[in-house]
Amino acid sequence: MACRLVILASGTGSIAQAIIDAHELDIEVVAVLSDQITSQVLERAKIAGIPTDCIPVGNSRELWNIEIIEKTAGFEPDLVVSAGFMRILPPDFVNRFPTINIHPSLLPDFPGAHAVRDALAAGVPKTGSTVHWVDAGVDTGPIITQMQVPVLPHDDERTLHERIKEVERGLMVATIALILPTLEQNV
Ligand code: GRF
Repeated sequence: MACRLVILASGTGSIAQAIIDAHELDIEVVAVLSDQITSQVLERAKIAGIPTDCIPVGNSRELWNIEIIEKTAGFEPDLVVSAGFMRILPPDFVNRFPTINIHPSLLPDFPGAHAVRDALAAGVPKTGSTVHWVDAGVDTGPIITQMQVPVLPHDDERTLHERIKEVERGLMVATIALILPTLEQNV
């Protein structure tokens, strides 16, 4: 049986698109969930015929925490993939669903929301991307895969992030392929 996958994303969703297009994987993307009603990822999912839902953070973070767990549970995922989801998931979420995240740096370097900017500011010669299991911390869970990307002399945050994202699309698909057999043992 195909692995039931829920994607969480907030932005343009190019990594989500790479997963959706990865027909060689034994997965079914059963839902794309976002916290941003205008995010392009929701359009991409609709075009692909994938159910979508939006869970904006309102006044109560506690209510949002409950809602994101309930909505995700409704799709009965075997794996949750956070692909550019700009929210911290509650501990109850990550304890319940096996969840991976992709982050645009070579963790443990440059965790947090401005990884590309921080790498440029630090003047490192190379950065990259990391796929890791999500735990209750911020970009702290066990690392699964990483790929390096060189920082070029005239890079700004936009050019560097675009080159990282080119690498991330393949890295994410390859990482899902890598962990699928371990997930199936748990089903
Ligand atoms: C990626 O760089 C990912 O590492 C980060 O957010 C970006 C998402 O890009 N967490 P996109 O929205 O999939 O194009």
